[in-house]
Amino acid sequence: MALNALPWWQSGVIYQIYPRSFQDSNGDGIGDLRGILSRLAYLRWLGVDAIWISPFYPSPMADFGYDVRDYTDVDPIFGDLATFDELVQQAHQHGMHVIIDFVINHTSDRHPWFLDARASRQAPRRQWYIWADARPDGSAPNNWVSLFGGSAWEWDGETGQYYLHSFDPKQPDLNWRNPEVQTAMFDVLRFWLDHGVDGFRIDAAHMIMKDPQLRDNPPNLAGVEVMPKPMGGDYETQLHLYDKDHPDGHAIYAAIRRLLDSYGTEQPRIALGEIHILDWQAWASYYGADLDEIHMPFNLSLLSLPWQAHTIRQAIAALEAVLVPGAWPNNVLGNHDEPRIVSRVGPAQARIAMMLLLTLRGTPTLYYGDEIGMHDGLIPPERVVDPIEKNKPGLGLGRDPERTPMQWDASPHAGFCSPATEPWLPLPDDYPSSNVEVERADPRSLLNLTQRLLALRSSTPALTSGSYQPVEGLPADCFAYLRQSGEQRYLIALNFADREQVLSREEKGQGRIVLSTGLDREETVHLASFHLHPNEGCIIEMIEPAPLDSAELNNDLSAGPM
Ligand code: GLC
Repeated sequence: MALNALPWWQSGVIYQIYPRSFQDSNGDGIGDLRGILSRLAYLRWLGVDAIWISPFYPSPMADFGYDVRDYTDVDPIFGDLATFDELVQQAHQHGMHVIIDFVINHTSDRHPWFLDARASRQAPRRQWYIWADARPDGSAPNNWVSLFGGSAWEWDGETGQYYLHSFDPKQPDLNWRNPEVQTAMFDVLRFWLDHGVDGFRIDAAHMIMKDPQLRDNPPNLAGVEVMPKPMGGDYETQLHLYDKDHPDGHAIYAAIRRLLDSYGTEQPRIALGEIHILDWQAWASYYGADLDEIHMPFNLSLLSLPWQAHTIRQAIAALEAVLVPGAWPNNVLGNHDEPRIVSRVGPAQARIAMMLLLTLRGTPTLYYGDEIGMHDGLIPPERVVDPIEKNKPGLGLGRDPERTPMQWDASPHAGFCSPATEPWLPLPDDYPSSNVEVERADPRSLLNLTQRLLALRSSTPALTSGSYQPVEGLPADCFAYLRQSGEQRYLIALNFADREQVLSREEKGQGRIVLSTGLDREETVHLASFHLHPNEGCIIEMIEPAPLDSAELNNDLSAGPM
């Protein structure tokens, strides 16, 4: 398939910017939109095609912008609407698309809608949120618990009812069953679409509809995994049957899709979905029965799985198995909620992770700083700001470590903010040697590997749009797959161990290494006996034998040991 046959959101690579941490331009130690503008040239050089900017809306910052006080403006910390417009325009000029966060499930408790709702039981917007009476003993209406710890219900003494908050009490859940809420939130989408945005990342997309009867969740007697990682507290003690993923959510996503599609198909506007559902079938249902809902639910599984070749391979197999023809994957190895990849797997395997992310089938989403190997910051107790860490200290759930400022150069505060200002989160000690400037000058750096991977990906149809076929029968620590488009066949072979691996596949032709994670190998290899160095990944262009048709290829690759 020709590269340009795919729409931008399928052929491109998305780069996530956490705006507080990317670049400060006004000396307050907090990143902002003008800071992002000043770094667009870097992103263009890197080779990404779209940026997703986490929330920059007016917010009391109880959850650093995921508590929105006004959906249609910019918080003065980050700039103003005119700067946002300039950012969209310049990103477009650089050939990059702009995706913004849509915090769909909840507002801030300071949002005028909620201020009205809690003013009285008769308030015009009372039913815009989810209110319920206490049980006879005064306790919360049911046993639902918040992802941030404690009951999901907060008592409102003034009006004598509880309101629901799936996250922080300062983030009351909107009542999406109310058509007025739907209208108001669709107006928000239109507002930003009219400002030229190319898409939305829908926050906690699976949470919007709950059981209308507010039934208790049943106990999790068998200890079933309910989230990719334990959330601590009571969250794991229940099966979350009633507090999320209600089928009625699908009608909302179908309507959102119709709205997006109404902006035309030439430059499609898209929705990405943050969906924490472990059952793959249920997760995939958010694509819509006719691929008429969310364009790309994130595959978030790679963020928390043990870093082993077979585990990763199984996760990709599970994902591919539930994708109907036309459903397009999106893979993620880092975001603002999860530990950094380097801290999870170490610097050597982070190179493998980057090659994996940028060669799997589907659109990769790359988290800012992962391209230079930023690791989790050490946050002294007095600098902790994340509400999860504050509510559930010491469980390793805090998200400040993965949100530290971008490391641009070796100057004070890594060029993130002026030397005279204290950044909102501390920088790690090693930034003088681990930053964009140093790594750009080092041909062997992770940054240059990432840049080369992005360039190779965008110029190689097999990597961008080709089929995906795992290779069977490899040594336990290896994961390899073939990407094929027409005549083009690329084998990606990844060594998850720090010892050499031999991939042997008798008389199965030759290939040419076009990129190794070691950045030091460009040679012709014989697949009869191919050595992967410790911690090495290779992209190999197959030159012999001639390409097979895919049926033959499938049989061939799964037949015997390679
Ligand atoms: C999503 C966001 C996370 C936020 C939460 C509540 O999971 O990624 O950062 O805290 O929603 O909005």
